[in-house]
Amino acid sequence: MSTSYRIAPSILSADFARLGEEVRNVIAAGADWIHFDVMDNHYVPNLTFGPMVCQALKPHAKTPAGQAVPIDVHLMVQPVDALAEAFAAAGADLISFHPDASAHVHRSVQAIKGKGCQAGLVFNPAQPLDVLDWVIEDIDLILIMSVNPGFGGQGFIDSALRKVEAARKRIEASGKDIRLEVDGGIKADNIRRVADAGADTFVAGSAIFGKPDYRAVIQSMRQALA
Ligand code: DX5
Ligand code: ZN
Repeated sequence: MSTSYRIAPSILSADFARLGEEVRNVIAAGADWIHFDVMDNHYVPNLTFGPMVCQALKPHAKTPAGQAVPIDVHLMVQPVDALAEAFAAAGADLISFHPDASAHVHRSVQAIKGKGCQAGLVFNPAQPLDVLDWVIEDIDLILIMSVNPGFGGQGFIDSALRKVEAARKRIEASGKDIRLEVDGGIKADNIRRVADAGADTFVAGSAIFGKPDYRAVIQSMRQALA
């Protein structure tokens, strides 16, 4: 498996009144990706931001040296396809959706890839991985939810670890280079367990944006992973 870990701070827990600055600050503190949680108050009981906000943040998603940092869009919306295409046009690099939110999962994956983005599938805590039997060849990312989607700051659901192990086996069997990301309740003190289960990419919202020193948190996560 890939040993290059990625830390993807979720701006769901950032200060929405200063989003551009928050994105720049968390990148300067060592973020690898920017995780962008899109909620529609329908698929999940919360409402966040849309493609126009992604487009506005795109120029801020770069390192102080000017290198682009991927925007990792996590769609918690239903239906999927039209918004996915709008996010592709707004500068998203990776777009992931929940298969149970799309009537035609294969079509949604192709819609995302057809716009030049990487495509991911997201699995809720009680959602099986079975759909991967049919689409793993077509995707770039698997995102395992370790909380129920909708809110930051929830506790890590331990059964996610077994699902991460199962997803890692499927990735190995596929022979494909697929990122395995985990989202929800990740902190410096549990990130190692999640990596040991097979994850290589870690979303963290409240653990980073809830603290005054983003760099210190990201470094403590990297130390735990080292
Ligand atoms: C929840 C979102 C997460 C959220 C994680 O629906 O998908 O990305 O921001 O927040 P923490 O890290 O606080 O659990
Ligand atoms: Zn997310």
